Amino acid sequence: LKKIAVLTSGGDSQGMNSAIRAVVRTGLANGYDMYGIKRGFKGLMANDFISLGSKEVSDILYRGGTFLQSARSEAFKTPEGQAKAIAHLKEREIDYVVVIGGDGSYQGARALMHHGIKTYGLPGTIDNDIPLTDYTIGFDTTLNVVTDAIGNLRDTMSSHERVSVIEAMGRNCGDIALQAGIASGVDAILIPEVDSDIEAIARSIKAGFDRGKSHSIIIVAEGAGTAEDVAKRIKDLTGLDTRPTVLGHIQRGGTPSAFDRVFTSRMGHKVIELVKQDIHGVALGIENNQITYHPFDDIFAAQNNINDHLYQIFQDLI
Ligand code: F6P
Repeated sequence: LKKIAVLTSGGDSQGMNSAIRAVVRTGLANGYDMYGIKRGFKGLMANDFISLGSKEVSDILYRGGTFLQSARSEAFKTPEGQAKAIAHLKEREIDYVVVIGGDGSYQGARALMHHGIKTYGLPGTIDNDIPLTDYTIGFDTTLNVVTDAIGNLRDTMSSHERVSVIEAMGRNCGDIALQAGIASGVDAILIPEVDSDIEAIARSIKAGFDRGKSHSIIIVAEGAGTAEDVAKRIKDLTGLDTRPTVLGHIQRGGTPSAFDRVFTSRMGHKVIELVKQDIHGVALGIENNQITYHPFDDIFAAQNNINDHLYQIFQDLI
């Protein structure tokens, strides 16, 4: 009898619950024993397992966060930490582990693989910074949250004829800022992948107000700077009333979008198909609307480049 455990690790993201549910329900339908590991690799080292039946994953599809909870673990990077984790898996005769998380979590999945565990990675992060997948879990929901927030800010900024500088998450990746910026028709997008000329941006914002615009919106990815610094710079250069807003962890919450629910259901289902085909040591993703998978080493060797074409589209539409 195959025994499969699922864990979520690193920063949570909307759609992780839906991914867990899909893995668990598809596994159960195939007669496998399914387990959850609480708090990611931390819980794995602490032997914190729960048995998962169909009922345990009901009512979670539409909830943000992860009911298994998540953590970042430094201890799991050490040989002692990994030895503990492997011992617990062996005692329980669990041969398969599904890791839902970002880059750091994939490193953990690969470490388990090197100890003989059959592992799978699902790209759980709002940042959209995992190579070889067009989307990561939660990215679409986060885009909607950020787009709504920009709409709220636009209302008040235009009443007061202000410039709004909004800081989005994303770590070293500008995708959230870029795509929410396109969705919102903002005036400037600052992302770490592209050098921006802040003086030119300030000139064009000033020219916009001189032509009668009532407000202006700049979105800055956290990897490119802070809202506070950019707002100060824009105020100094234009003399306009400027306000910084850091969206922060609001971006990681909320009910997952239909896209995130469907895409995670497809990926979770695919994991069990791969188990049946004896394919493992891979990370799954979505490319050109197909669920695909690649060995962990290929993911680490690949670059996650910004979509230059999207950036060009943004510039052409300003
Ligand atoms: O990786 C997801 C993310 O939300 C990043 O966008 C952000 O830089 C980081 O996690 C925040 O981490 P924490 O939740 O530990 O503050």
